[in-house]
Amino acid sequence: MLVTLVLIVSGGCGDDGMPLGPPPADSGWPSSDDAEVEPIDSDLPCDVADIISARCSSCHGETPLFGAPMSLTRAEHFHLPARSDASLTVGELVLERTHDAAAPMPPTGLLEPLELSVIDDWLGAGGLPGSCEVTTEPPPPITTGPEALPCEPTHTLTAHADGSEEGFAVPVDAGNLYECFTFKSPFADGSQATAFAPIIDDERVIHHWILYKTEQPQVDGGVMGCNMPLDSSFVAGWAPGGQNTVMPDDVGLELPGPDDYLILQVHYWNVARHADAVDASGVAFCTTDEPRTHEAGMLTLGDVTLSIPPRSVGHVETGTCRSSITRLLPEPLNVIGSFPHMHEFGSAFSTHILRGGSEADREALVEIDRWDFQDQRFHPNERSLQINPGDALETRCIYDNPTSDTIRFGERTEDEMCLNFLMVYPIGAVGNYRTCGLW
Ligand code: HEC
Repeated sequence: MLVTLVLIVSGGCGDDGMPLGPPPADSGWPSSDDAEVEPIDSDLPCDVADIISARCSSCHGETPLFGAPMSLTRAEHFHLPARSDASLTVGELVLERTHDAAAPMPPTGLLEPLELSVIDDWLGAGGLPGSCEVTTEPPPPITTGPEALPCEPTHTLTAHADGSEEGFAVPVDAGNLYECFTFKSPFADGSQATAFAPIIDDERVIHHWILYKTEQPQVDGGVMGCNMPLDSSFVAGWAPGGQNTVMPDDVGLELPGPDDYLILQVHYWNVARHADAVDASGVAFCTTDEPRTHEAGMLTLGDVTLSIPPRSVGHVETGTCRSSITRLLPEPLNVIGSFPHMHEFGSAFSTHILRGGSEADREALVEIDRWDFQDQRFHPNERSLQINPGDALETRCIYDNPTSDTIRFGERTEDEMCLNFLMVYPIGAVGNYRTCGLW
């Protein structure tokens, strides 16, 4: 259950003054394609080793990371029983998952046909060891995490044991677990984020996390199962590959205020049954009390009136923020990027600007042709992209519903969502219209 979020304020009365924070800016949730390539100690044939090291070992390395259940660095690994189904070998599952468009490996999309045929041919011929000169290169410089920030973090929010500074002990049988860590907002009134960094602690079990803001009181330092308040709104997120976010020099990011609460929702994936997993992952913020020239914040687009018929394929839901609303903007909005959100029935997602409200004059803000629930990353735009007064914003969510029930909007896994958290500035121009076109 991914959970989620959000929102809902009727079309006009946002919470004045209480900022919705933003998602990771230039990079929040990159895909495995962006992951850096590390040389692996491997006895795989060279052509196979090249593909595995470029496309799989950021997760399936010598120490599997981010919930990946096993290593894929040596030929023998492909002949072991699979973690999820011991009647199959890892190699058999590799053949299956690298061809499975619905549950692809790597999770961000299938390999190129040429890459696929190399893996298929090698496994088809028995998956035998080969030899390949291993070149060792110096480790790449650290670019992600609090140490790599250009500033000293002022606030950190991390997973913890109940009421304690200790990390959270991830149960050995947790499998696929959502755990929520609650805080009173530590941010002073009017302070802005200038940068923030993911803190990734026990890489073996952390799958992704999202930080939400709510006005509903939460225990400071509490731990609970995830039952998100209806007003929860997105502040920041991380998934494998996610980088630090450094705001442009003249833009500060709105932060929750001292009367708000924060919920760090962490998705753990301990299918490999690590018995000693203790995690304190989370986020570190650099903040300033001196407001920058521009303040960025989140505008929520999408549709909450979903009705996805049983056994439908390619069902489309559309939410439009109309020209009649954007016409009220006193000045254009600069778009930093999109953080789209749907659940597991989603198959494609887009938000377009309709210039002057015209169907004929469309410009994409974000287009995801194959939605992957595991890859909920931030999609940055060119900094020059603007929404002008009178433009319409059309968010389109496409679903496949194989079940025999009508699916509606909601935060349970069985429900769906269709939301785009758009990071824009100046957020002040948006006034109270923090959500637009949802109904
Ligand atoms: C971004 C991280 C990531 C990358 C890159 C990645 N995987 Fe995975 N892989 C996972 C995670 C997480 C799981 C467990 C969840 C699942 O099965 O979807 C997994 C599961 C699998 C499984 C199923 C294992 C089982 O026991 O069910 C196979 C097979 C697999 N990956 C093969 C690959 C191959 C081959 C590549 C490269 C071509 C690859 N993966 C790239 C993260 C990754």
